[in-house]
Amino acid sequence: MPTDTSSFVIKIVDHEDNQFTHQKTILECLEQHKINVHYHCREGFCGACRTKLLNGQIDYVTDPLAYIDDDEFLPCCSVPLSNIEIKVEY
Ligand code: FES
Repeated sequence: MPTDTSSFVIKIVDHEDNQFTHQKTILECLEQHKINVHYHCREGFCGACRTKLLNGQIDYVTDPLAYIDDDEFLPCCSVPLSNIEIKVEY
């Protein structure tokens, strides 16, 4: 897990950019900025939070067990490794 993720920007299609500032996960960052993402388990099991990753890299803080497509990731258990661009389904 990266030790400093404070300088990364989360660019969201059709939404303003957000700075990732020491939240535990990308989901917590989105919630802090009042961006609604579907979720249930918050631990990588259910897949409810599946989100498209269009650009950039993420890393998982816990191993995800839910099925996801190659262009998706689970924000509930991940952090950015670079600036990222995502598409959130509302
Ligand atoms: S909320 Fe269940 S996998 Fe993310």
